[in-house]
Amino acid sequence: MSISTFNRHEFGEKLNTVVFPSQPIQSIEHLFGRGEELDQIDKALYAPGRHIFIYGDRGVGKSSLAAIAANQYQSPEADYIDVSCSPDATLLSVVADIAMQAANISRFRSITRQVKKSIDLRFFKIEKNQNETRLNIREQIRTLPEAVELLREVSYLHSEKPIVVLDEFDRISSAEERNLFADLIKQLGDKKIPLKFIFTGVGKTLEELLGAHQSAYRQLQTIELPKLPWEARWEIVLHAARTFGIDVDRDVYIRIAQVSDGYPYYVHLITEKMLWRVYDEAKEVEKVTWEHYLPAIRDAIHSISAELKRPYELAVNQPSGDYEEVLWSTADSDMLLRYLKDMYSSYGKIMDQYTDKLRLDNGKYSARIRNLKNASCGSVLISGNRPGLYSYREKMLRGYVRMQAEANGIELYGEEARSREKQYMHVPARVSTGYRQSMIPRGITFSRNGERK
Ligand SMILES: Nc1ncnc2c1ncn2[C@@H]1O[C@H](COP(=O)(O)OP(=O)(O)OP(=O)(O)O)[C@@H](O)[C@H]1O
Ligand SMILES: [Mg+2]
Repeated sequence: MSISTFNRHEFGEKLNTVVFPSQPIQSIEHLFGRGEELDQIDKALYAPGRHIFIYGDRGVGKSSLAAIAANQYQSPEADYIDVSCSPDATLLSVVADIAMQAANISRFRSITRQVKKSIDLRFFKIEKNQNETRLNIREQIRTLPEAVELLREVSYLHSEKPIVVLDEFDRISSAEERNLFADLIKQLGDKKIPLKFIFTGVGKTLEELLGAHQSAYRQLQTIELPKLPWEARWEIVLHAARTFGIDVDRDVYIRIAQVSDGYPYYVHLITEKMLWRVYDEAKEVEKVTWEHYLPAIRDAIHSISAELKRPYELAVNQPSGDYEEVLWSTADSDMLLRYLKDMYSSYGKIMDQYTDKLRLDNGKYSARIRNLKNASCGSVLISGNRPGLYSYREKMLRGYVRMQAEANGIELYGEEARSREKQYMHVPARVSTGYRQSMIPRGITFSRNGERK
């Protein structure tokens, strides 16, 4: 099928079935690069009393993985229960939300009616007015044991294999309330209640999210979700393009993989913009090339959420007018923690790509790097645990910084990759202003026809 056979409306609709920058993945054929994690989750869920905790950086794909894993586990007679946490959530409010969502299922209502005489239901008594019953749930549970009992009824009535996704657990602001969930899963295990939980949360360690509750940790399979692997990044691009019967220049999809910094959100967004560029072209297109990719990067930058853009804008809008290249230099690596001297070396390579810009000396450069930690510069960086070591405060921002550099004709590759076995990309001179080597990590090689070996 050729792309030109679609009218605009059809194209837009179809495009949104293959790229979704603003929604977690809901169906497994769109989930790339998470086979290992899905397998781990699947195996862990066989163990009675074991639950899952997926944690990692913002935007790496936690909710998507949780949704797919829950879909796979949940028995087909009902949808899995999906609760998002809010800052003021408490253990009791979350449990009540779970129960209310379960009670919304029509099958649940009819079952409740059937079983109400045969088992002793305390919470799910059916009143004449269904709404009243549901509202009462919040008031009926006041203690942890009551919450556990309520979940027992939920597990009994919801479905054969019920599972709850507790998304954005980190948003619960009270550490005390978060810690109570460790007790909850412990009690679910002790009481043999067959209700499974998948938690997701932004964080570096589980302890940061759940507190130091060692005995509960034994009941959790923890999945620290890394950034998307390289192949998965370009699989998203290729899969979307193939839907419209088009090919993608190998250098272009590798570059998307690189610029995105492993955040699937950026891959989806760039792909979406790029395919629109292809669609808008008057002539028939068989292959996506740099001509589509470069304007798509600019389109993507325009449509990125203000929340992500703001720190960048604060950082570069400094009176001295020389912060932008400094900021780009911080994103020129695959390492999250970087030494000042390495960033200065990246800066040098960036400045080599200009003929008309004044280069900052080491002292001035270092002062700007330190300033990038301040709120007036968007608090972009934080100090590492050694002098001269820095990292991004919001890791996802680094992808945006890379896209900005790319839109300005500056290529960032990363010094680690440069020192490795070199892979050359066929970047046209107009595009490439400096570096030539690609940043594909060692171990990923291509055969002559461009297929991965
Ligand atoms: N494995 C994957 N393959 C393809 N696309 C993915 C994958 N994982 C996530 N995505 C896409 O990436 C974007 C972010 O994913 P998701 O919302 O799951 O991340 P998250 O870690 O939950 O983010 P947040 O921290 O903001 O809650 C979404 O557009 C989603 O469709
Ligand atoms: Mg999420």
